[in-house]
Amino acid sequence: MGYLYDLEGKKMKVALVVGARPNFMKAAPILRAIDDANQHELCTITPLLVHTGQHYDTALSDAFFSDLNLPAPNIYLNVGSGSHAVQTAEIMRRFEGVLETEHPDAVLVVGDVNSTVACALVTAKFSFGAANSRPLLAHVEAGLRSFDRAMPEECNRIVTDHLSDLLFVTEESGLRNLKNEGISADRVFFAGNTMIDSVLACEERAECSTVLDQLGLVMPHGNGSAEVRPYVVLTLHRPANVDNRGAFTEILEGLHEVAAAQTVVFPAHPRTQKRINEHRLERYFSFLTSNNRHGRDDAGPGLTVIEPLGYLDFLCLLKHASLVVTDSGGIQEEATCLGVPCVTVRDNTERPITLTNGTNVLGGTQQYTIRAAIREQLHRTYLRSFPEKWDGKAGARIVKILLRFWKDAGIMARS
Ligand code: UD1
Repeated sequence: MGYLYDLEGKKMKVALVVGARPNFMKAAPILRAIDDANQHELCTITPLLVHTGQHYDTALSDAFFSDLNLPAPNIYLNVGSGSHAVQTAEIMRRFEGVLETEHPDAVLVVGDVNSTVACALVTAKFSFGAANSRPLLAHVEAGLRSFDRAMPEECNRIVTDHLSDLLFVTEESGLRNLKNEGISADRVFFAGNTMIDSVLACEERAECSTVLDQLGLVMPHGNGSAEVRPYVVLTLHRPANVDNRGAFTEILEGLHEVAAAQTVVFPAHPRTQKRINEHRLERYFSFLTSNNRHGRDDAGPGLTVIEPLGYLDFLCLLKHASLVVTDSGGIQEEATCLGVPCVTVRDNTERPITLTNGTNVLGGTQQYTIRAAIREQLHRTYLRSFPEKWDGKAGARIVKILLRFWKDAGIMARS
């Protein structure tokens, strides 16, 4: 009780770091929960939204801010692209300045991108000076492991988890992995999945998207009703899958059979679009731009590349698909909660709950394994699945734990 009294009227300043597309939907529910907590708590939180600028294209960044009702970032670091070393170093250099001027009490990093590990490293080694103190460091989406260190994200996850003071886990495997790595259980909290908070919060609005009409995926009936045509969604952006021409071609060959039978819509990441041109793989695709896709009413079979979609349009496209083929981590989770069969074009996943309790199967990266997985999944129907604590309340749990920590212990790392 004494703490409550001591802290009454004080504000906890929390820097929340985002940088790349998959960060935005994980951060939005935390900001909303902070707003809620501020209405009810004696001790309030001042959020400071820091965008590193790792992703800067409108389609990968601004579109998500408006779809998710995120406020404009308080600080934009404008780092842009670069090699892993250059990008990570530049984020670190610029984020250190933020800690120096803003003095946050806590830093929250989400996910596993370069912005996550860069800001975690800076926070863990920072010192406010004479007091020899630093902000508390919390990792949202801790404990996931693919056990494949060739993935840059796996290195980012391991380093971030081992530096963090508080670790918020999305699925049971995360608890096991962190225990096996010797991370003390009193720092680890099974909070749930903020990415699923966003799906549940935005699903109704996503139904108003016109993306299916624009892509010719809605078949009108004479009586005024309409039906969604069967189609597949494809996303590919992992360097291991698209940077090497042979690997990319193998995947495209694996998709050949399904693409001959139905429309495969492929919102392509800028990296992937570049590789299609560099590898001269255009012959596999037809291309639709936002200028020529309006009013299309005849989507036929084939692989159709479109520009990256915003959050609400993608959610709508995914929800109504017969199947999604992807190498993304987050889409495996979204497909599980939407009940959409998913083939992951990888040999492993850091999200095993989507295999055991969800709609995901591993399709590998060889054409015959991908083809077999697609055949298997196209014949399956799934119910929507909500693994433990994928209930729309993860953001609220995280903020509650943060506040409890603040009230009970003050800021641990300041002592
Ligand atoms: C990053 C994350 C990956 C995540 C993905 C989601 C890392 C190591 N990788 O990969 O985990 O799944 O985001 O999209 O952090 N580019 C643009 N416009 C942009 C941003 C990037 O054209 O706004 C192009 C640039 O050519 C850049 C390339 O995409 O070099 C790669 O961008 P980068 O942020 O390095 O990695 P992603 O592949 O986007």
